[in-house]
Amino acid sequence: MSELAINGATSIRSTPYPAWPKGDDREIEAVTQVIRSGDWGGFPEPGRNAAAFEDAFAAYQGAQHGILMSNGTITMEVALKALGIGWGDEVIIPALTFAATAYAPIAAGALPVIVDVTPDTWCIDPDLVEGAITERTRAILPVHLGHQMADMDRIMDIASRHGLAVVEDCAHAHGQQWKGRGAGCIGDFGSFSHQSSKILTAGEGGTLLTNDDALARRAHSIIDCGRAKDPEEKEYTFGANYRLGELHAALLVVAMDRFPAQQAEREKSGKLFEDLVRQIPGVRVMPADERITRWSFYNYILAIDPEAFAGRTNQIVCEAMEAEGIPAEVQYPSMSRYELFQPSLSRMPVCVEFADRLDPQTMSFPVAEAAGSRESVYFMENVFRDGTRGIEDAAEALAKIQRHADELPTAV
Ligand SMILES: Cc1ncc(COP(=O)(O)O)c(C=O)c1O
Repeated sequence: MSELAINGATSIRSTPYPAWPKGDDREIEAVTQVIRSGDWGGFPEPGRNAAAFEDAFAAYQGAQHGILMSNGTITMEVALKALGIGWGDEVIIPALTFAATAYAPIAAGALPVIVDVTPDTWCIDPDLVEGAITERTRAILPVHLGHQMADMDRIMDIASRHGLAVVEDCAHAHGQQWKGRGAGCIGDFGSFSHQSSKILTAGEGGTLLTNDDALARRAHSIIDCGRAKDPEEKEYTFGANYRLGELHAALLVVAMDRFPAQQAEREKSGKLFEDLVRQIPGVRVMPADERITRWSFYNYILAIDPEAFAGRTNQIVCEAMEAEGIPAEVQYPSMSRYELFQPSLSRMPVCVEFADRLDPQTMSFPVAEAAGSRESVYFMENVFRDGTRGIEDAAEALAKIQRHADELPTAV
């Protein structure tokens, strides 16, 4: 008789982790006020709630300006456009991330140049960034993946030596700080997502942070149909409507209020989790970089060694974790597995002109490929919001699965 819930045995956890997103009377009141006010939309930009959230979030992360818009994909496209990046330019991105990080340069008209990640963080490898720079490179787009941050010391040094812009993809990094500086406040722009699963959410939404007055004005203009935002009303941009409505913005104002306490809980739980799982054979913990001075994460990612799991890989281990009642998944394959760049799917000039450079068949990212297809296990954020018991259950489930790995199915 198998010990594992995936084979029908009793699961480690019988009660679910707390749901996300979760609101109460405060959210209902905030949305009700917007409905009563009649100002439902995002025009004039920014609306009252949008401006309140932009100020509060920018202050929390330590930026001069926040620009709220419809999602955390458009944010990166707008950032690149505000920086004047487009056709003929190259933007360096990591091989392990959500498709949006590659989509944004393409949507701005630029070529995403994909490089592998480091084995200790699964964030962009600065040595490979340096090697990928050409006379066309204009920007680096690092992703702060899971509980880690990309090495911002190295990235900023490379950017300043080569005159490149930096746009940080902080979709997973609300609240993080690197040597006392907030994620998204170190490069020229920081891009955040407020989509449902993210830790500061209104269901949808995205924010750009910047310390540059002119870039902030340009980003506000691009998302507001190109309307001028400078004091003399002179600078128009080529923009469209990417505003977020006030109903969503009102939810974000409440979410921001709740966020610091959630961040503190996540930080405490994350440390306990690391201590427990690092004792499990075949589990490689990638401890948060010591330069991360405020820790806050969307999900915690660890590596399993399939050899120590009877040859089973991450996908089946995640299925077994789910069966034990622990939310875990494999989120991203390597970019070499994505088909989204293909000319058959996009007539964007960059996809047609550079089809050979965007062909998954010719891409090779050994670290990202190992992470995506064999090693990475992503523990979802609600595991870290259920006190000590929630963490102990998750660690115990992984230990149990490892001990009984030879009972796991061989295919998903
Ligand atoms: C790393 C990363 N970048 C960008 C995004 C895009 O955010 P949105 O869904 O708000 O467009 C996501 C969303 O999952 C993400 O995980």
